[in-house]
Amino acid sequence: MSLSSIDLHTDPAQFPGMDVYAVAGNPISHSKSPAIHKRFSEQSNQSMHYGRLQPALGEFAATAKSFFVAGGKGMNVTIPFKLDAQEFADVLTARAQLAGAVNTLRIENGKIFGDNTDGAGLVRDLSAQGIKIQGARILLLGAGGAARGVLGPLLEQSPKELIIANRSSPKADELVQLFSELATTYQAVLASVTLSDLEGSDKTLSPFDLIINATAAGLSNESPVSDIAASHIFIPQSFAYDMVYGKVTAFMQQALHRGSRVSDGLGMLVEQAADAFLIWRGAHLNKSIDPRAVLSELRS
Ligand code: ATR
Repeated sequence: MSLSSIDLHTDPAQFPGMDVYAVAGNPISHSKSPAIHKRFSEQSNQSMHYGRLQPALGEFAATAKSFFVAGGKGMNVTIPFKLDAQEFADVLTARAQLAGAVNTLRIENGKIFGDNTDGAGLVRDLSAQGIKIQGARILLLGAGGAARGVLGPLLEQSPKELIIANRSSPKADELVQLFSELATTYQAVLASVTLSDLEGSDKTLSPFDLIINATAAGLSNESPVSDIAASHIFIPQSFAYDMVYGKVTAFMQQALHRGSRVSDGLGMLVEQAADAFLIWRGAHLNKSIDPRAVLSELRS
């Protein structure tokens, strides 16, 4: 595949003198990542260009290879290519291995390095919104890639308890096994239940300080929890976080109805982008970029 057939303002030859980056996903036209990185580069006076790539399904590796061979410096990876990106990388960071997925690629001396900044982005967004994870009772809804990607960074903040609730139990049980050692290290109780367990009267399953929706239910305008379960898990002191952004989801509406504070996932998107930017351009730019200002701009 030639780069021209997949180029959406990302052919490094079109931007002489600039380092070129891109976000790869399918679909990708809606992505806010180019706007976010443009603001970071302006804030920190970096001469760079950030475009989009839309590999055909099954062609991530070919597209990524073309991009890096043509001189591309780094790539963000989104749905549905995070597993392909993990396979594509020559070297993985420990957190990318634990997450089972890669959202940030960079090239150094011809080697591709894969990292995952999603979980760190979530933790920083929660902290910026005044949410304390240490000692909290957390309910994580979903056991797919999005849930796995944030589990490590959440456990590293030493919550009191982290319950994974999924529609079907095998995937949630698998995650508990995979992360049990980390949970022990950080003195967190880690357990799994099914979504229907949340409808029962078991007091250990209600209410929660922090409820995170990492399921794909929001995409089809559904909530993963029933109204009965919602009446157990949310109280006015709860904080409900949906990783989806750009709308008040059915899950957020249930939480609002019970007086809980809510947030969509736009802050997580900006914060994970900030970490990717610093990986590429240098951690010393930490003080030059202002993710919360970029988030306000996106919201206004
Ligand atoms: P992602 O990478 O976005 O996490 P995924 O790996 O396909 O995508 O996982 C999707 C998650 O959303 C799973 O936890 C899935 O539940 P199952 O494992 O039982 O399939 C969950 N999910 C998707 N649609 C849902 C719905 N309508 N209600 C509840 N959970 C849903």
